[in-house]
Amino acid sequence: MGTLIKNGTVVNADGSKKTDVLIEGEKIAEVGDNLNATSHTVVDASGLLVMPGGIDVHTHLDMPFGGTVSADDYTSGTQAAAIGGTTMLIDFVLQSQGHTMREALDTWLKKSDNKACIDFSLHMAVTDLGPGDGAQGLREMEEMVAEGITSFKLFMAYPGVLMIDDGLMFRVMQKAAKLNALCCIHAENGSAIDIVVAQMLTEGKTAPHYHALSRSPKAEAEATHRAIALADMAGASVYIVHLSNAYALDNLKFMQQRGAKALAETCIQYLVLSIEDQMPGKSWDEAKYVFTPPLREKWNQQPLWNALQDGSLVVVSTDHCPFRFADQKELGRGNFSKIPNGGPGVENRLQILWHFGVNAGRLTPEKFVELCCTAPARIFGMENHKGSINEGLDADILLWDPNADYTISAATQRMATDYNMFEGWKVKGNAAKVFSRGELVVDNTSQPGKFLGATGRGRFVKRGANAGGLA
Ligand code: URP
Ligand code: ZN
Ligand code: ZN
Repeated sequence: MGTLIKNGTVVNADGSKKTDVLIEGEKIAEVGDNLNATSHTVVDASGLLVMPGGIDVHTHLDMPFGGTVSADDYTSGTQAAAIGGTTMLIDFVLQSQGHTMREALDTWLKKSDNKACIDFSLHMAVTDLGPGDGAQGLREMEEMVAEGITSFKLFMAYPGVLMIDDGLMFRVMQKAAKLNALCCIHAENGSAIDIVVAQMLTEGKTAPHYHALSRSPKAEAEATHRAIALADMAGASVYIVHLSNAYALDNLKFMQQRGAKALAETCIQYLVLSIEDQMPGKSWDEAKYVFTPPLREKWNQQPLWNALQDGSLVVVSTDHCPFRFADQKELGRGNFSKIPNGGPGVENRLQILWHFGVNAGRLTPEKFVELCCTAPARIFGMENHKGSINEGLDADILLWDPNADYTISAATQRMATDYNMFEGWKVKGNAAKVFSRGELVVDNTSQPGKFLGATGRGRFVKRGANAGGLA
């Protein structure tokens, strides 16, 4: 006995078709026309799109940062994701300096144990290769790949906390090239930014607005170029995370055109929010939008949309790193550099990208699926499990209602923050039903905003090493 989804339109990255989908157990058993309904539970998907569940490759759950811990743990964060139509996350493990990657991984596996509600994987943020020539850390990279952690994050920002120098970055890139692993880069020139931050604070520029002004788009552009050039020298594939502005994009394209193995994502906030609209410098409320890289001037949005269309940007993620406004953002009142960096978004990624992308005529439904589901699965080494509606893959399936009207609000969200960056926005298009490995875990048509599955049912997914699909 399976679950047969009838009367919907299956949308994959390579095309759409009105056809049926049969789920048996945890897998997609068959995709085909007029499948026999005998002995199956039929789900009527009339008027709905049958898409792969979303994959958000950039989240920070239960993460110590900025003197506090991100507000969503693995339970609230994964449930919020599912309610918004996302069925898989890749979260970041942070290695602490002086500690091994193995210790960091164990810490993160404990955080997720019995808590994750949808499937998840992990990137390893490398901050330390150990004593001497780093042989111990480089060996650990091999162990991580054997564990299915096939992407390494390198921070070029946050000096004294997470930032590494170019030498360490280069050694990790050389090793990643040998392992077919992918290097994910936070590209900002942290040293230059820290000087500007100190100068601004000395001048009494302490409001949240100055966080945005202290982190020049050029600091991101320079680091983007440097990271890709170093990766190119090392023969490694890189994936630039949260690319936010046109200068950085120019540098990405320049290196792509010269054959560098460079991919990049942007995040929903950079496509629809701006300094002018959200951070004009008028109030403390703007702390809600303090994240890194910061919001940019509005004119940067169109080049980012263009880059999604022309393929120079390949994924849209969230960089979901939630902090409550009332008590956590408060840590930086009077000094913007102490505001915990990050914003919530995992629940709203698909709504925002559909409304401002597909409804606005900027993206086709197929491109939407490519950016949110299929490319993330391919680039991060799990296309044999997730990311499309194909026989044999996990039945992570999203029934999407393109006509659903939805008003985004912190009052109704599952995310643990006391605010939403898109508060009061009315969008058209929302998740109707969500299946995770064949189980109906969200039904927004009958029980909106509720997670229906058991807490802790999410599994760690081991990923393959495929150098971002570029090898
Ligand atoms: O502000 C942000 N983005 N916080 C999370 C850490 C990071 O840089 O991705
Ligand atoms: Zn970052
Ligand atoms: Zn991040």
